[in-house]
Amino acid sequence: MTTRRRFAGGKLVVASHNAGKVREIRELLAAFSTDVISAGDLNLPEPEETALTFIGNAELKARAAATNAQLPSLADDSGMAIDALNGAPGIYSARWAGPTKDFAFAMNHIEREMEGKADRRAHFICALSLGWPDGHCDSFEGKISGQLHFPARGTKGFGYDPIFIADGYDITFAEMEPAAKHAISHRADAFRQLVAACFK
Ligand code: IMP
Repeated sequence: MTTRRRFAGGKLVVASHNAGKVREIRELLAAFSTDVISAGDLNLPEPEETALTFIGNAELKARAAATNAQLPSLADDSGMAIDALNGAPGIYSARWAGPTKDFAFAMNHIEREMEGKADRRAHFICALSLGWPDGHCDSFEGKISGQLHFPARGTKGFGYDPIFIADGYDITFAEMEPAAKHAISHRADAFRQLVAACFK
């Protein structure tokens, strides 16, 4: 069994410049006497996401922040993987929306790519890595599976939420109340694994 390094409290850098993500992680770790600092607050550089897997990219970001800040650092990488497209957009999920982050464009692109394909299976995946200044990294991958749905439906959520229906549901992620989505999401799954292994 892999030995996981425990975080016993104190300062933790969230390797993200996205204020919403930092806030969400601060709330999720509130019970574990964690003093969450964002990479943005520390002016840490954002490394290029050059790995070919979700975990690879999360580890690269966690290690870069941990080395630069000399503090334990938590990073994530997430996206949607479609079976009929051999896992695309996958780690390129954000990049498919282009520099203006146009997800209507990205969802149309997926709809066109899916024309004539019967298999609608898709998964949201979230990798979380807790990295340390000495290079040690513990990583976890959360997942939720479901089906693609066109046309897009719903106005809540973000990204690809309007075209994803989780198994056992008949509404898209963008039609669900945020709390209901957060309880079952890939991110919640990854966090449960991280907390059980490193924060308890
Ligand atoms: P990241 O911030 O580099 O991890 O980019 C993840 C990208 O994957 C986002 O820009 C979204 O396009 C997509 N994504 C990840 N999680 C979700 C989700 O919960 N709903 C919808 N889209 C998501």
